[in-house]
Amino acid sequence: MMHITLRQLQTFEAVARLRSFSRAAEEMHVTQPTVSKQIRLLQEQVGLALLEQLGKKIFLTEAGERLYTTCADWLDTWGRFEQNVADLKGLKQGRLKIAAVTTTKYFMPRILGPFCAEYPGIDIALEVINRDRLLERLSRNQDDLYVMGVPPEGLDIESEAFMDNPLVVLAAASHPMAQRRQIPFSELAQETFLVRERGSGTRMTMERVFQERGTPLRIKMELGSNEAIKQAVAGGLGLALLSRSTLNLEPHQTDLCVLDVEGFPIMRAWYVVRPRGKQLSVVAATFLAFLRSHIQLFMPRP
Ligand code: PGA
Repeated sequence: MMHITLRQLQTFEAVARLRSFSRAAEEMHVTQPTVSKQIRLLQEQVGLALLEQLGKKIFLTEAGERLYTTCADWLDTWGRFEQNVADLKGLKQGRLKIAAVTTTKYFMPRILGPFCAEYPGIDIALEVINRDRLLERLSRNQDDLYVMGVPPEGLDIESEAFMDNPLVVLAAASHPMAQRRQIPFSELAQETFLVRERGSGTRMTMERVFQERGTPLRIKMELGSNEAIKQAVAGGLGLALLSRSTLNLEPHQTDLCVLDVEGFPIMRAWYVVRPRGKQLSVVAATFLAFLRSHIQLFMPRP
């Protein structure tokens, strides 16, 4: 029988996830020697090396990989137990882990703000990453809920649409097409585009739209952020297809305009996603219920 403490498992999970002793120490609010000691005690009990350090990089040994999977599941179950206990005591408290795609930064904070105000005992870890990285986290079951525009087809998931996510064509306000109506899509083929990085859901949708219409996509520049793309469009470098959510924060921005192109906006939705059958923690279920009942408040005004 191994004598292992919950704290040791939490420490190991943090080091394995962050691949860093110092970042794990920071996250757990302890010193780095404390982290090293917990890992050393754990390795002694397991009787095998769990981590290997080559230069500055940390790798998991085979035993480490197995323990990582086991303890991630176990900590998840334990976290739910703690939340159930809190719930039985009538408290809504605990940690809510959400991973959301980059573009959600235009509305997620405005949803989370009122949620936190209503449930001050719930603390939120929001990971904002692009779609590819989010799918990695989803397949490892690292978070309670995932928010994205294009749910994956190959994974066994449950997804629920909660808000519109129209895809629009953006141009500089001074662009010759700005005043035109019902611009044929084929005319876009003459234009050059600013696109998001590979792995982004926006990029994926955009490529699909051009492919489905048999129109070649001329890429002028690839930029890793919606904001950088908006600035480049406003500067006249090209056009872009972006989620209308990216305009939420500045509805009156005057140097950009939405073009009236045939077939646009392409109507899509924002989804909240979780692995099928995942038992939701009390806080995750509370958040989902909040999202369903309050979503009208967060919709951008036309
Ligand atoms: P992105 O995702 O922010 O990674 O482009 C947006 C989406 O999934 O629609």
